[in-house]
Amino acid sequence: MKIVGIVGSNAEVSYNRKLLQFIQANFADLLDLEILEIKDVPLFNQSEDATNTPAIQILNNKIKRADGVIIATPEHNHTIPAALKSVLEWLSFKIHPLENKPVMIVGASYYDQGSSRAQLHLRQILDAPGVNAIVMPGNEFLLGKVKEAFDENGAIKDNRTVEFLQSTLQKFVRFVEVAAQLEDTEKPLPKEDLFATGKIASTIEDVDMYAEDWVEQAAEKTNAAKGSDYVVLDRGVLTVDQLDAFLKSMPMELTYADSNNQFLYYNNVKEPDDMFAKRVPGQAGNPLAKCHPEKAYKNVEWVIQQLRSGKQDVVRVHVPKHGPEKYIVHNYQAIRDAYGTYMGINEYILDFKPIIDWYLQQTGQQLVGDVDATSSASKKESASAVDATSSASKKEAPEAAPKAAAAPVAKPAVDATSSASKKD
Ligand SMILES: Cc1cc2nc3c(=O)[nH]c(=O)nc-3n(C[C@H](O)[C@H](O)[C@H](O)COP(=O)(O)O)c2cc1C
Repeated sequence: MKIVGIVGSNAEVSYNRKLLQFIQANFADLLDLEILEIKDVPLFNQSEDATNTPAIQILNNKIKRADGVIIATPEHNHTIPAALKSVLEWLSFKIHPLENKPVMIVGASYYDQGSSRAQLHLRQILDAPGVNAIVMPGNEFLLGKVKEAFDENGAIKDNRTVEFLQSTLQKFVRFVEVAAQLEDTEKPLPKEDLFATGKIASTIEDVDMYAEDWVEQAAEKTNAAKGSDYVVLDRGVLTVDQLDAFLKSMPMELTYADSNNQFLYYNNVKEPDDMFAKRVPGQAGNPLAKCHPEKAYKNVEWVIQQLRSGKQDVVRVHVPKHGPEKYIVHNYQAIRDAYGTYMGINEYILDFKPIIDWYLQQTGQQLVGDVDATSSASKKESASAVDATSSASKKEAPEAAPKAAAAPVAKPAVDATSSASKKD
């Protein structure tokens, strides 16, 4: 379960950060906690919108993609610190990542009842219509007299306090699970515009997306780097020719569709009819709707919704139709920028049988169970290919949302962990 923990203090040394670090280190079996800071978030100011700055977008994207949030609040003058209030204002102004998000409140402070008043206020703030979080009822965790609470290794000294903290976290995990079920049934994900009628910063305007020579027109319009021109990447500098050859040398069919659902690129190596998912040069630039038959729209939309929302970072579909000599997987991976903002889909289609064969031969293992890619076992589990980025026209759309296929299990033939003698 992915949980983000927000340090409600902007202090360099913070007991609330320590409390979250303790939870992260000691309850990893219950939840996967990522700690987020508010130190770099500017003071809220309605006249100077900073919503799109990295500090706020990191919080926005990480909260949106988390299953739940733990906020560790200090208490300043019987309420929450101004820095935390300011963050909550940004997160309820133009963006609303906490909407319907399960939240647990914890707090550490100097005095006996410290953070209790701040926690009550925070509860009220999180309930405001612009924030609209689902705050776990009851279960206040207050760490008073915090100066004495931790040992020199950052561990909470009192065992009963640790046990109580554990019980509140267990309740929160259950709370998140129940909230997720309600969310699934109550709120469908936003619709996808497969016709790419919107515009993002990188959209090349005034070039017909449907044109056969979109690539040539778009390159001219943008004066795009080409051939021996250099491009700087993280981390390296390549010529366009090197980059192109590099992508073409990938042992897979690679495609890129942007966050506006425009199909921008594929590594054009094989003849269309030799590809696992047929693509033709004129497709580059098309909206995704043009790359699929109408009956596949539902599934294409489902895949994009999963990736854009962060419900899944990867969707894989096993396609058994190529026969037992090939293990074909369509892998749809969300592309995100450094702040976690969705940038589109990386789709690769790969026959991973040569890699498995090599691995088994190297390690002396063998596959057991059903390895027949065309047999009923694999068909039961896998849906038809969805092909969210390119031409799926030849494929049937699955009725249900695609599921991951069951993989055969690799079993050591002799001893998988021992020396390389088997290889010789
Ligand atoms: C301006 C100010 C007001 C404070 N008011 C309270 C308070 O009302 N109740 C309390 O228990 N602690 C109060 N404290 C002490 C905090 O509990 C203490 O600074 C704590 O370490 C803050 O959490 P942090 O270490 O995560 O920043 C206050 C501290 C400051 C600087």
